[in-house]
Amino acid sequence: MHYSPGAPILHSKDLVNWEYVGHAVPSLDWGNKYNLNGARAYVNGIWASTMRYRKSNGLYYWLGCIDFGTTYVYTSPSPSGPWKLGGKINTCYYDAGMLIDDNDQIYVAYGNSKISVAKLSSDGFSQVSTQQVFTTPSSIGTLEGSRFYKRNGQYYIFMTKPANGQYVIKSSSPQSGYGSAFQVLLNLKSPVSGSGIPHQGSLVDTPSGDWYYMAFIDSYPGGRIPVLAPITWTGDGWPTIQTVNNAWGANYRYPTTPVNLGSTTGKDSFSGTSLGPQWEWNHNPDTTRFSVNNGITLSAATVTNDLYWARNTLTKRIHGPQGTGTLELDFSKMADGDRAGLALFRDKSAWIGIARDGSTNKVQYVTNVNLSTGNGWPTQSTGTVSASQTVSGSKVWLRIKADIAPGGSKTATFYWSSDGNTFSQLGGGFTMNSDWQFFMGYRYGIFEYATKALGGSVKAVSFTTA
Ligand SMILES: *[C@@H]1O[C@H](CO)[C@@H](O)[C@H](O)[C@H]1NC(C)=O
Repeated sequence: MHYSPGAPILHSKDLVNWEYVGHAVPSLDWGNKYNLNGARAYVNGIWASTMRYRKSNGLYYWLGCIDFGTTYVYTSPSPSGPWKLGGKINTCYYDAGMLIDDNDQIYVAYGNSKISVAKLSSDGFSQVSTQQVFTTPSSIGTLEGSRFYKRNGQYYIFMTKPANGQYVIKSSSPQSGYGSAFQVLLNLKSPVSGSGIPHQGSLVDTPSGDWYYMAFIDSYPGGRIPVLAPITWTGDGWPTIQTVNNAWGANYRYPTTPVNLGSTTGKDSFSGTSLGPQWEWNHNPDTTRFSVNNGITLSAATVTNDLYWARNTLTKRIHGPQGTGTLELDFSKMADGDRAGLALFRDKSAWIGIARDGSTNKVQYVTNVNLSTGNGWPTQSTGTVSASQTVSGSKVWLRIKADIAPGGSKTATFYWSSDGNTFSQLGGGFTMNSDWQFFMGYRYGIFEYATKALGGSVKAVSFTTA
């Protein structure tokens, strides 16, 4: 959505263990609001999008519709990049699903309830034609989130009924002839206690010819997480989920021999001179005000008293179900009035950090950092200092423990340490909000902003997650 770079790409060899490898959209270059500079774009930006590999030219294609207007096409020779803008198409391919046919022709299925299929030019950067192919019957209601496949000469458009169903239509030709929808699931019980129903996502076939459905479940306050189940096909060619006791199974056999990739938790010392692909900025960053060089230096980029207006907040998803994030922060170069630290970042946020006023440094626990839900997401409140304590020295360790399990306590607690060994809790527990409207879950957010004047900075020496 509004996080930059956009469209994170993960890689797996077994569909179970995953690692971040890059982003298809290097920068959200779609207008000033994506820069958090006088305007902002919370919950805008990238919605459901699509990525495919094209054998004929060795390129990966990603496309997505931005702001219900233009569809942007990016390509790269590798999933990890370098990705670059290939073209813009003036039709909004809302919730797009791309198919590259056996003859190399690119099609895109898209739309909400009225589902269309566009045929693209040979380079994939413009539209040749588009045709509505399906109208969702009122007995189903809404269908969107199209995915587009070909199997045994049949074209399949796989669609979601938000947020509790999955349907599919098929035809022997790509742009016409689709019959009525087949129900793949409706109100199927989730394998994760307290979560929503598995839906949306994609069908995937393995090299050995097995099929899987990777859906997601709404698992707030942590966000959406993927779940995987095997698919079998009926005699007349419809995909069926292999259920366990009439529910999405909590465990299935691995699709293939497990291959563990790097751990998604551990210590990140920001080594080298660029950020790893697990990091995303809150909107496009001001690139003149941060530098990575064995640690990341964040110079205050905005004068504000509102974290939601502050540029250059660096975010990372929380690894659940219970996550711990610890920021090692050198605050010696902060300026009078600066605020810097570690946020539990969403539309209802809280943070622990250093407030410098005059020459006094305090560690503060701040709650009520809120956006109003929906309709432009204006700031509702800029925060209340719930607990505060004077600190000395130039370095602090800030820690957040968050129980993001959808069936858990949904509580976070905040700690600080002056030596990295002994941590003290600051303030009481914070109850995370688990509404769906913001779509994305709570993240860790490392921030530094000025309330008086620019000029100060902090250095995040390391960030450790467990
Ligand atoms: C901030 O959001 C929380 C969670 O919804 C709510 O309990 C609190 O009252 C809000 N604070 C303000 C000042 O609006």
